[in-house]
Amino acid sequence: MSKITFPNNFIWGVATSAYQIEGAWNEDGKGISIWDTFVHTPGKIVNGETGDVAADHYHRYKEDIALMAELGLRHYRFSTAWTRLLPEGTGRVNAKGLAFYDRLIDTLLKHHIEPYLCLFHWDLPQTLQDKGGWPNRQTAYAFAEYARLVTKHFGDRLNVIFTHNEPWVAAFVGHFLGDHAPGQKDLGAALRAQHHILLSHGLAAEAIRAEARHPIQVGITLNLNPIYPASDSKKDLEAARRTDAIINRVVLDPLLKGTTPMLEFKLLKPFIGGLIQSGDLEKIRTLDLLGVNYYSRTVIQHSSKTPVVNVEQVYPQGNEYSGMWEIFPEGLYALLTRLWQDYLAPLGDAAPTLMITENGVPVPDGLDFDGRVRDERRIRYLKNHLFQVHRAIQDGVPVKGYFHWSFMDNFEWALGYGQRFGLVYVDFKTQKRTVKDSGRWFAEVMRGNGIEF
Ligand code: FCB
Repeated sequence: MSKITFPNNFIWGVATSAYQIEGAWNEDGKGISIWDTFVHTPGKIVNGETGDVAADHYHRYKEDIALMAELGLRHYRFSTAWTRLLPEGTGRVNAKGLAFYDRLIDTLLKHHIEPYLCLFHWDLPQTLQDKGGWPNRQTAYAFAEYARLVTKHFGDRLNVIFTHNEPWVAAFVGHFLGDHAPGQKDLGAALRAQHHILLSHGLAAEAIRAEARHPIQVGITLNLNPIYPASDSKKDLEAARRTDAIINRVVLDPLLKGTTPMLEFKLLKPFIGGLIQSGDLEKIRTLDLLGVNYYSRTVIQHSSKTPVVNVEQVYPQGNEYSGMWEIFPEGLYALLTRLWQDYLAPLGDAAPTLMITENGVPVPDGLDFDGRVRDERRIRYLKNHLFQVHRAIQDGVPVKGYFHWSFMDNFEWALGYGQRFGLVYVDFKTQKRTVKDSGRWFAEVMRGNGIEF
């Protein structure tokens, strides 16, 4: 047996998001979000499932946090539902919403679990959508108001606030691919949403810092996919380069360099006229904590089927696949070293802290005859990915933490309840929780600050 050990004070945690676990979609004065609307639109979600009840965490948060404590968790990344706090997005504050997150945060602290609060995990207030949503610049200012409220009310108990989870997914999957709320298929809307979400990050960072009574780190979590060309041909290499610009650089460059690749593409010009106003890029470039969500790589070939960008994803043979993606641990190493070389090392002392804020795999888990969930695939996935994180650290990339997605099984957006990502199994009929083998395994990893092979 050999063991790899992580640096002292390495931060181990788990992640969830409000819409995916809370349920109680219309209780205690909560306003309607675009996800509430989307799931109630026929044909959008597998089997017509909804997050109306989800894992019922709104009512079971105490039991869930007690279970986290039992597993030895010390850090928990979750999101607040904007519509619980500001039902119409701006203006009127819902006292019962504040009270819920007060109880949640206080219960975490009672169990010595540090809250890593994220403001936006995709559940935009429907009222703001009705005024144009993220493609409307005003939404960015509304978001800053929400950030100010959260900091003012909860800031005394927080050291970290993430503004956004995966801005690219919110912008492009929501407004260009149309698979997520609000379900638009409009490249111009996606590009405008992308810019305004990033702008809202900058405005929120300002609001958080103005309101904080002690230093609060401002973070963001990004879905980053290392892009691989399908072949060595010049066309495929170029296609991979374009995809990297559109998926990764479109968020990384503004946040860390103050530039944007949107301006590189002549073909995008008609879509973004007047979008980026003077001063915007300076505002966006502010970050204390960079969270990386990694699930898989993307392999790309040239294709004239997709207009404007001319790229197509291909699925190479030879590796294991999950219900959603190719399993490719080396991609995490490639991503971390690239981030370090291209973005963080050049910033020297001004570089944000780097953490993995999501990583995990969907497994078709079920209870065995004895009530145990033997999810060997998840354990293997985690071992192999943590090995790559450790390898990057050995090679000089200062990764400070790792949050597993997810604490418990939950509502996987357009794919409903079929894709289970939890360390804890949830029977959605009875809401009974069962710690999976991977949950016990992860508890050991945290306890020993390392992995045995
Ligand atoms: C990420 C999301 C998270 C979850 C995982 C599987 O893109 O941030 O909510 O759905 O994927």
